[in-house]
Amino acid sequence: MAKETPTMFSNLLMFICLFMFMLNFHSSHGEQQEFELLLSFKSSIHYDPHNFLSSWVNTSSNTICKWHGITCDNWSHVNTVSLSGKNISGEVSSSMFQLAHVTNLDLSNNQLVGEVVFNAPFLSSLLYLNLSNNNFTGPLPQSLFSSPFINLESLDLSNNMFSGKIPDQIGLLSSLTYLDLGGNVLVGKIPNSITNMTSLEYLTLASNQLVGEIPTEISLMKRLKLIYLGYNNLSGEIPKNIGNLLSLNQLDLVYNNLSGPIPESIGNLTNLRYLFLYLNKLTGPIPESIFELKNLISLDLSDNYLSGEISNLVVNLQKLEILHLFSNNFTGAIPNAITSLPHLQVLQLWSNKLTGEIPQTLGMHNNLTILDLSSNNLTGKIPNSLCASENLHKLILFSNSLKGEIPKGLTSCKTLQRVRLQNNKLSGKLPMEITQLPQIYLLDISGNKLSGRINDRKWKMPSLQMLNLANNNFTGELPDSFGSNKLEGLDLSQNQLSGNIQILFRKLPYLMQLKLNNNNLYGKIPEEIFKCKNLVSLDLSHNQLSGEIPVKLAEMPVLGLLDLSENQFSGEIPKSLGSVESLVDVNISYNNFHGSLPSTEAFFAINASSVAGNKLCDRDSDGSNGLPPCKSDTKMNSTTFFVLVCFVLTGLVALSGAGFLVIFVRKRTKSFEVRRVVENEDGSWEVIFFDHKASKSINIEDVLSSVQEGKVISKARNWVSYEGKCLSNDTQFVVKEISDTNSVSVSFWDETVTFGRKVKHSNIAKLIGMFRCGKKVYLVYEFEDGKSLSEIMHSLSWQKRIKIALGIAKAIKFLHCECLWIGLVNEMLTEIVLVNGKDIPRLKLNISGVKEEKLRKEVTEKSEIYDFGVMLIELLTGRTSVNDIETVEQKNNIVEWARYCYTDCRLDTWIDPVMMKGGDVSTYQNDIVETMSLALHCTAGDPTTRPCARDVVKVLESVHCSRITFC
Ligand SMILES: *[C@@H]1O[C@H](CO)[C@@H](O)[C@H](O)[C@H]1NC(C)=O
Ligand SMILES: *[C@@H]1O[C@H](CO)[C@@H](O)[C@H](O)[C@H]1NC(C)=O
Ligand SMILES: *[C@@H]1O[C@H](CO)[C@@H](O)[C@H](O)[C@H]1NC(C)=O
Ligand SMILES: *[C@@H]1O[C@H](CO)[C@@H](O)[C@H](O)[C@H]1NC(C)=O
Repeated sequence: MAKETPTMFSNLLMFICLFMFMLNFHSSHGEQQEFELLLSFKSSIHYDPHNFLSSWVNTSSNTICKWHGITCDNWSHVNTVSLSGKNISGEVSSSMFQLAHVTNLDLSNNQLVGEVVFNAPFLSSLLYLNLSNNNFTGPLPQSLFSSPFINLESLDLSNNMFSGKIPDQIGLLSSLTYLDLGGNVLVGKIPNSITNMTSLEYLTLASNQLVGEIPTEISLMKRLKLIYLGYNNLSGEIPKNIGNLLSLNQLDLVYNNLSGPIPESIGNLTNLRYLFLYLNKLTGPIPESIFELKNLISLDLSDNYLSGEISNLVVNLQKLEILHLFSNNFTGAIPNAITSLPHLQVLQLWSNKLTGEIPQTLGMHNNLTILDLSSNNLTGKIPNSLCASENLHKLILFSNSLKGEIPKGLTSCKTLQRVRLQNNKLSGKLPMEITQLPQIYLLDISGNKLSGRINDRKWKMPSLQMLNLANNNFTGELPDSFGSNKLEGLDLSQNQLSGNIQILFRKLPYLMQLKLNNNNLYGKIPEEIFKCKNLVSLDLSHNQLSGEIPVKLAEMPVLGLLDLSENQFSGEIPKSLGSVESLVDVNISYNNFHGSLPSTEAFFAINASSVAGNKLCDRDSDGSNGLPPCKSDTKMNSTTFFVLVCFVLTGLVALSGAGFLVIFVRKRTKSFEVRRVVENEDGSWEVIFFDHKASKSINIEDVLSSVQEGKVISKARNWVSYEGKCLSNDTQFVVKEISDTNSVSVSFWDETVTFGRKVKHSNIAKLIGMFRCGKKVYLVYEFEDGKSLSEIMHSLSWQKRIKIALGIAKAIKFLHCECLWIGLVNEMLTEIVLVNGKDIPRLKLNISGVKEEKLRKEVTEKSEIYDFGVMLIELLTGRTSVNDIETVEQKNNIVEWARYCYTDCRLDTWIDPVMMKGGDVSTYQNDIVETMSLALHCTAGDPTTRPCARDVVKVLESVHCSRITFC
């Protein structure tokens, strides 16, 4: 035995040495290979802002285990690569997917692009793969779904641009506990085989374009804690046996097309904390079993077709913090039981058919911060206890039949910010205390039966931006101040207020809308009102105001609407009134004005009803405004003659004998239109003007001399636009030369004429003239100094963004209302919107799109709404989807991304960082979220569910006007 020991020992030693040698050989060979693969990956990175990969240097393979982001196993093999959030970008080299021993590979939160190619023999030790939040494209890597990866435990490919179907083989990955494919552009059905993943705890396929039904065998995946399938196009019913998934903590199926009832079995899911089924087509009542879910924190069934009553069993949901049942068909009363949910913070039951009284103890034992019961048929009094939490900031009860006084409990609620009680039957006085609340920025009590004085107190509302007390029975004089210098909208119309207008306007620099109409006010228009340089809309009609129109009124820079009708104003109208371009809507009817109408744009095509009831005359009258011609002008009675002479003269000068005026027609209806034929060396030109000024200043020579290489503004397939300037005066304009001969067809010309005639909208670039001769066609647009939205978007504040969005929405609404489908479709809105120095957006419509096949009205409108939604997302997130060829697909991508982020991430992860910095987010968070939700509606997969333009404008106005009233 002893003799043999050395031999055995040496054998063992030799064996160990040999083993070590082999191991070492093997290992250094492997190291060398890993070294090269990692360097190859590094060389595919274009940009590494934090120099994270600087330690990855080409010296010796022995060092790789010390490289940043690399961890090795005991045999010096790379087993973890962790490059999450390093902001590296580049087209990923597939070398990264060839590391043989890696178990954890995390490339998430970078800007990596390209297709992901897996080579099956490699990576087979992989347990954890995270490629989320990059920009990977192409299909999901097929070879990942094969037997070598059967041990994979966690797979996160979310928020990329993976396309195509989810492979049927996905079921092979039966060890997965975590699967997230959300926020991609995956199509097709959810493969049934997915239900083979019986270890799965987290399943997210949200925000793709998946269709078909939710696999019923999902009930086999008993370990599931979270199911998130929202924002797809899934249809059919929620599987009846969903109640078998007893571990489920969160079930989120929002924004699909799910129909049928909410299954009774859902009541088995007693671990459920979050149940989100909103924006589907679910019908029937809320199953009583839901009230067994004692752990629910948030229940959101809003925007479905659910009906029936809300059960008193809701008392069982003692942990509930958020209850959203709005936009359904619920009937009956709000159950008393709701008042005993101690954690309830947010209660939104608006837009149902609820009746009866609001439980009088609501709020007393809750922790309310937001209460919205608007648009129901609620009666009785507003409970006194709503603000018992001392935390209530949003109180929205409008459009019900609530009566009685505004309760004391509310008037002492110092946290209130937004209060909308309009359109009820509230009575009594305006409580003193409510006009002292420090945080209210919006107070709307219009359309009630409140009475008494409003100047019997010192208003002290330092945050107030919008005050609406219209349509009540308030009496007495106006207060001189509302205790806020932030006021943007003030509406006191339709009351019985009397006395002089003595508001201290110098303290209201931001006032945009002032409505004092339909009261008993008398005296003059106060001089100070000119200090309100932002005033856009001034309605003083139906009072007993007197005196002359102050000349300074004509100088207010952005005034757009001026209504002085039905007062006792007198004197002449200032000659300059209406010379400010913004003023488009003037009504001076039924006063004691005399003299002639000003010859400014605003009065040029004014309606008879806007000037009637005075002693006015018109110098340029053709009778359409109902005024008699002014006496001193009787010799020039025929305007046509007068203008004709002018034109003959200018024509003679301009064309110096080459051309001659042949036909001249002038129609003076609400829309101006002049047609002429002019000769020059090219032949005879047909000319149409839609603008009075332009018809006087621009001629064919001006147009032709502008069409030069050096003056190109932009080009497209079938047109080029140029900077234009008159030769003899400094009028500027934009000429669009239509080069596509198809465009020169009769229908194109006629449709463009219709466009010019009809499209007069402050948010649409104005077509002022058209010239054609043979195959040459020139369209002349009003010149506007501004920048394209895409250029300036990133530098804008939230308020400018929302203002611009509203302007564009109005333009689209206008087009739809006028039945003008000009084919905005597939235009990049941010490119064709010009924003001027006053942040007014103008749509530069490409009329040459009309001739293309005329889409059906419905289709066009819904696609335009989609494009508008995309633009909203771009405005909100600062992300762009620009670039020609693949526009449609890229649009879809940004939409899917937004949809995913909106529900899944905190606001600060998707909002444009510029707005984060500007502090907009904290102030306007609710508005921003509301606008994003609108954008997602507009971009709904199913066109029939997208809102119409009118509703879009309504929502944007309510967001925008929550702070300012002019919209
Ligand atoms: C994603 O990639 C596309 C091209 O494939 C590119 O146009 C787009 O800007 C990228 N998006 C992001 C957020 O990097
Ligand atoms: C389910 O997983 C097992 C491995 O656990 C596999 O053998 C089987 O083929 C899978 N079935 C499907 C339908 O993918
Ligand atoms: C689940 O719910 C259904 C219907 O409410 C009930 O019949 C069934 O017994 C429940 N199953 C379990 C496992 O609790
Ligand atoms: C709501 O119920 C009424 C009948 O009470 C029905 O006419 C209407 O279509 C329902 N609306 C929805 C959205 O289900």
